[in-house]
Amino acid sequence: MKLVRVVLLLLCFCLSSFEGKYGKHWKNQVTKKHELPSAPAAPQEDLVDAKCLLNKYTHRSCSKVFCQPWEKCVDGTCICKLPYQCPKNGTSVCSTNGRSFPTYCHLKSFECLRPEAKFLNNGTCTAEGEFSVSLSDESTDSKGIVTVKLVDQDKKMFICKSNWGMAEANVACFDLGFQQGALDTRGRFHYSEDLQINSTECLQVRCQGFETTLAECTFSKRRVPGYQGLAGVLCYTPAADLPATESFACVNGKRIPLNRACNGVNDCGDQSDELCCKGCQDGSFLCKSGVCLPNQHRCNGELDCISGEDEVGCEGSRRGRTPSSALSRHSQDRLSRTGAEYPEVQEETEILTADMDTERKRIKSLLPKISCGVKRPVHTRRKRIVGGKPAQAGDFPWQVAIKDGDKINCGGIYIGGCWVLTAAHCVRPSRAHHYQIWTSLLDWIKLNSNIVVEKVERIIIHEGYNGTTYQNDIALIEIKKRPSHKECVFSNSIPACVPWSPYLFQPKDSCIISGWGREKDNQKVYSLRWGEVNLISNCSQFYQNRYYEKEMECAGTADGSIDACKGDSGGPLVCLDTSNVTYVWGIVSWGENCGKPEFPGVYTKVANYFDWISYHVGRPLISQHNV
Ligand code: ARG
Repeated sequence: MKLVRVVLLLLCFCLSSFEGKYGKHWKNQVTKKHELPSAPAAPQEDLVDAKCLLNKYTHRSCSKVFCQPWEKCVDGTCICKLPYQCPKNGTSVCSTNGRSFPTYCHLKSFECLRPEAKFLNNGTCTAEGEFSVSLSDESTDSKGIVTVKLVDQDKKMFICKSNWGMAEANVACFDLGFQQGALDTRGRFHYSEDLQINSTECLQVRCQGFETTLAECTFSKRRVPGYQGLAGVLCYTPAADLPATESFACVNGKRIPLNRACNGVNDCGDQSDELCCKGCQDGSFLCKSGVCLPNQHRCNGELDCISGEDEVGCEGSRRGRTPSSALSRHSQDRLSRTGAEYPEVQEETEILTADMDTERKRIKSLLPKISCGVKRPVHTRRKRIVGGKPAQAGDFPWQVAIKDGDKINCGGIYIGGCWVLTAAHCVRPSRAHHYQIWTSLLDWIKLNSNIVVEKVERIIIHEGYNGTTYQNDIALIEIKKRPSHKECVFSNSIPACVPWSPYLFQPKDSCIISGWGREKDNQKVYSLRWGEVNLISNCSQFYQNRYYEKEMECAGTADGSIDACKGDSGGPLVCLDTSNVTYVWGIVSWGENCGKPEFPGVYTKVANYFDWISYHVGRPLISQHNV
């Protein structure tokens, strides 16, 4: 074992010195940020990413979407929280089995674990509280005009056709026991004569689409003069199946017409038709992560895209989805439709149920937040130097140097608590007491005064690390606490965020590398330098049989002018999300030569190791979302 390691080490150093001859050229090259593709008017196959579909993503896949506040993300899947993990603060709610819960989150988490009871009403339980949904068509139990009896109303009511969409229809079908939701919101529905249709009054309902009962949706009563279209639904039954060639197969087994995938509408009911998209149709919004969202989610004050694009550039266009604004929007289109030809009609609306969607958002805002990836504002004037960019104080507050004896051979990344991330090939557990972790270091010839030097408590090498192939080239360094200190002191450091999803950044995104590694002509570098590189897809074309897509990431520039090199190993490749939060996307690992366009730098893909890291450092330390 030891012999193998020595041989491997030699191999790395040989590789590195070879790189040294070519050196690195940090050039002042500015690369354009990856632009969002606009929805192309292309046939269906071009919109759906077939390779992505193999992962069978659904609304519970936290590498694609955020979990509900009563769920947490473990190994890429949203799983039920235990009720006690919910925020305490809130008002009580009542469930269908007559039990009262301290908050909506408590009930939803309980339901998530044991789906026998559902939400009934906000507030305490009353003796005769009952909610029911039924379909008017007597010839079949899977379709019809929808009638609802609300908890505090004594008669059944119809639902207005306006605003009735697939989200609402799916929930109605879930409520009726059709686990795959609805097939359509349109159809020819029959109803018996004894159902009295009061044509001027109906319920307006608004759902998110993931509610398990319509009782969780928000109802208001609308009174309008004249006939109102009424909402109907065709719930999905396997008998209704479409031929495989003309349909999209949802993860939940349902089939939907092909042209309804990637249109921002959750037709499947488990969102699987909207999670592997290369483009979006019908004006829906494409997240960089390949998710199509309904346009109303854009600028609604809630993050929906995991990398946040849906809430960018929203100044002055905040579109709250509160009932009042939904209504004012409604009366606006009515106004524009009626125009001046008709006298102004009086429309009355009365909100009948609590807005559990707002409650869900409130619970979300109460979940613990960690702070990472945001620098303290520094007001220094930046000098740009051709051929490289020297870092200035505070530019890379997560960058550390690993000093082994009197040499700095590697970098590392502070990720919070007592933990530093680095490459496995940089460190050996047996040498832990030889290492020093230097933070806030800028130049190791001219030492700045705020440098903090830390000792190492222990080193954890990834159990799958393979020094021959450089697979799983990732390690954790635990810093020694100072005597009588409970926490680690990283006074001038700020942790970089650990990415929880491989979809946070995409090929062509521009990211930043930094380190004290060699320059061109193997020139030694004493000061921390940085450069901008682009993420590169299809890296196996450069490194046949040596590049492992899931575990590695390639980055470089078209001319190869910017690259990591010998001595940069273990250091960060960081990317900034849409709100300028910094993520450690890669760890400098290997590369053939330095600065050759045909041989881009290879990095350990940190997102692939989120669970490994959180297992060692503790989930709360690095989980920003889905906690
Ligand atoms: N293995 C090298 C080291 O120990 C890192 C090499 C990165 N090379 C590159 N061309 N990007 O420092």
